[in-house]
Amino acid sequence: MVDIFEKVQQTLAAVAAESPANAEALEQFRIRYLGSKGEVKALMEEMRNIPNERKREYGQLVNTLKQQAEEKHQSLRDILEAQSAGADAVRLDLTAPGEPLPLGSRHPVSLTLNRIVDIFTRMGFSVADGPEIEDDWHNFTAMNTPEDHPARDMHDTFYVVDAPKMLLRTHTSPVQARIMQSRKPPIRIIAPGRVYRNETISARSHAQFHQVEGLYIDRGVSFADMKQTLFHFAQEMFGAPKIRLRPSFFPFTEPSAEMDVWLGTDTEENARLTKGTGWLEILGCGMVDPQVLINCGIDPEEYSGFAFGMGIERQTLRLFNIPDIRMLMMCGFCGSSVRTADRLLTVDF
Ligand code: PHE
Repeated sequence: MVDIFEKVQQTLAAVAAESPANAEALEQFRIRYLGSKGEVKALMEEMRNIPNERKREYGQLVNTLKQQAEEKHQSLRDILEAQSAGADAVRLDLTAPGEPLPLGSRHPVSLTLNRIVDIFTRMGFSVADGPEIEDDWHNFTAMNTPEDHPARDMHDTFYVVDAPKMLLRTHTSPVQARIMQSRKPPIRIIAPGRVYRNETISARSHAQFHQVEGLYIDRGVSFADMKQTLFHFAQEMFGAPKIRLRPSFFPFTEPSAEMDVWLGTDTEENARLTKGTGWLEILGCGMVDPQVLINCGIDPEEYSGFAFGMGIERQTLRLFNIPDIRMLMMCGFCGSSVRTADRLLTVDF
């Protein structure tokens, strides 16, 4: 009898001495003293062996034990919870320095474009721009493109449903018209920008791409001026030792030409790009058609000029060794463009 009272006293002392320091130890404490097979329960069950006159005393003692164990459990649980809330608060410390973000790089099309702009601005051209949603007159009529020209076909051009005379510009040439209408010669501009054509998307073509337009109007501008300007560009851009002008046709230039730059076939890459010929076609050009000057309010008796237009994406593919035009449209965080970025590091700008 003395023993069992003693046992309760010892358990009280043991509870007081316990100091579980973490959630796991606290749970052990709970199971050991307060669990369904725990010491408190076992001691309660001893009640039936206690003589009646001492039952009350025993009951009070065991109750004290139970209370103390519960209080200790509760207060330790409060402390541990406060501690882990504190840890969360540290994780959300808004004054802490952020995770460093990896530095991005410029898009290959922008790099190519910047280089083109750089070359022409050094030759005295300034940069102009115009709207991507253009009207029919600037895109086609002013540029001497007849009503029945296939470029005007619904299949080739994206029209705006609610405004039949509005379209996504098919080339940067309408900027020529806008500049000629709003400025007096001498005019010497390039106009980079996005253009749209209703094309089937493949490794080599996209429905959305970029061009750079060039326009030079002054007294006495000749075909020789155009040739020298474009040759200089080809040397700077590609290190090309020679260019070739092939006769061509554009409604807004006369005569018209297409320009190829000589890359040679000595590397496998150049042979592939030039389809074994050594020549890479990069732009269309020509002397501004007198009718275009008239359309835009410039007297062709007094002034002449040349214009050119080049696509940027094909040059980008060449400069960066990118196999597929669609890769230029990919998300900056996906694997393919990481490969592109790797290549960028090897190109010296
Ligand atoms: N606009 C023509 C095209 O998109 C290119 C060009 C521009 C040709 C200026 C001659 C002069 O193909």
